Amino acid sequence: MNSLDHVAIIMDGNGRWGLKNNKSRNAGHKAGLKVVEKIIKSSIKQKIKYLTLYAFSTENWKRPKKEINFLFDLLENFLTHRIDDLHKQNIKLKIIGVKSFSLKLNRLLRLAEKKTLKNNKLQINLALNYGAKFELINAFKNLAKNKENINEKNLVKYFQTKNIPDPDMLIRTGNTKRLSNFLLWQLAYSEIFFEKKLWPDFNEHDYIKLISKFKKIKRNFGKI
Ligand code: FPP
Repeated sequence: MNSLDHVAIIMDGNGRWGLKNNKSRNAGHKAGLKVVEKIIKSSIKQKIKYLTLYAFSTENWKRPKKEINFLFDLLENFLTHRIDDLHKQNIKLKIIGVKSFSLKLNRLLRLAEKKTLKNNKLQINLALNYGAKFELINAFKNLAKNKENINEKNLVKYFQTKNIPDPDMLIRTGNTKRLSNFLLWQLAYSEIFFEKKLWPDFNEHDYIKLISKFKKIKRNFGKI
């Protein structure tokens, strides 16, 4: 049985869920946040050490302003009301991506990271304004600037995922089979699961089913 330390998730399908249920796309995001809470709880039960959630990509800025504002209000509200409880549960929050939001949100994110820095039950890596291509280019630029040799060890120390082991499994909900500029380097040997359900319909039972499938896979890492 494979051990499972790190699960990464592309939480896709919120907008479609809202429209399918005769509501707004934003109602889908709100429902999606409830699922985030359930998956955090379940990850602790499953003794997972790292949970990386793709919440906002560098490409998501192309969405209508109203939707972007709604997403960031949701996040602000989440940080304001839920961070103490996450802290009590010994959860560490880390943001991967460039923190270039409103002053208020930047501050809330920094405070949340600082408050939970020493926690060690579960580390949630929230990918916000994250893009793997940007991360790679930025790392290569740093290598060039510091005249360092181009090798794996030197490169990954400039990644936003520095000190985080690569994901063992990736789950993408929403019936779409693509990586959408998410952790392109780090997913090199991850087991990938594409789930038909839209994110707000995904539940703990689905999560546990995928985890037990993952545990039975023979992982070769290039060997036979
Ligand atoms: C993708 O669905 C989802 C997002 C871009 C946002 C994810 C956000 C949440 C799950 C809720 C907020 C989370 C936190 C932690 C505050 P989509 O809108 O692209 O769906 P679609 O493919 O149906 O359009």
